[in-house]
Amino acid sequence: MNRAKHIAIIMDGNGRWAELQGEKRVKGHEAGAKVVKEITVYCANNEEIERLTLYAFSTENWKRPRIEVEFLMKLLENYLKNELEVYLANNVRFEPIGDICVFSNSLQKMIATVQEKTAHCNGLVQSLALNYGSQDEIVRAVEKLRSAEENITIQSLSYALDCKHNVDLLIRTGGDKRLSNFLLWQTAYAELFFVDTLWPDFKIKELEKIIKKFKKVERRFGGLK
Ligand code: FPP
Repeated sequence: MNRAKHIAIIMDGNGRWAELQGEKRVKGHEAGAKVVKEITVYCANNEEIERLTLYAFSTENWKRPRIEVEFLMKLLENYLKNELEVYLANNVRFEPIGDICVFSNSLQKMIATVQEKTAHCNGLVQSLALNYGSQDEIVRAVEKLRSAEENITIQSLSYALDCKHNVDLLIRTGGDKRLSNFLLWQTAYAELFFVDTLWPDFKIKELEKIIKKFKKVERRFGGLK
């Protein structure tokens, strides 16, 4: 049976969820942040899951209205500040991916603080993708190798990426069936699950059902059974 060692999630549908309640889109992000916590704690307490990588803010999300972007920045900062205890209590190591140097000093500081304070945790690794785009990540990795005059091989490039680990199971909530520039390299042989549930409604039960289905899939990695 397959093991879902690395789960990646595109958390889509926050805005629609809020609009369905007659609320502003940002309310959906707030509700979404609560689900991030629930799913992280669940994964931290499931021995088979080693990594959880969540798409929190993409390189393309800057195109959103300024007010929504500002809200997301504040939400991320508060989330990290408030959840540090939860990371520590659940032995979760926080490892951001993405090009975070464009964020405000205070957000960058908060990211660094949570990373440092959880560096000793050896349970689940939770990665938030922050100002992350897979194409940007690959270009930065190639640049790194080029300036170090290293050969470009599958191995060296994988190692130069922000996220160095192949994904086993990728889930996208919100009904769309696309990868939206998320972990394009690392999902080469991932199993993809697209669900209609909007992210704020995504529950542990649904994750458990997906994992159960994933376990039964025949993964061949291009070979024969
Ligand atoms: C997509 O929903 C979601 C995002 C662009 C951001 C994801 C953010 C969160 C889940 C909350 C904050 C995260 C953390 C870690 C605190 P959408 O706005 O595109 O929804 P829509 O497709 O319904 O418009």
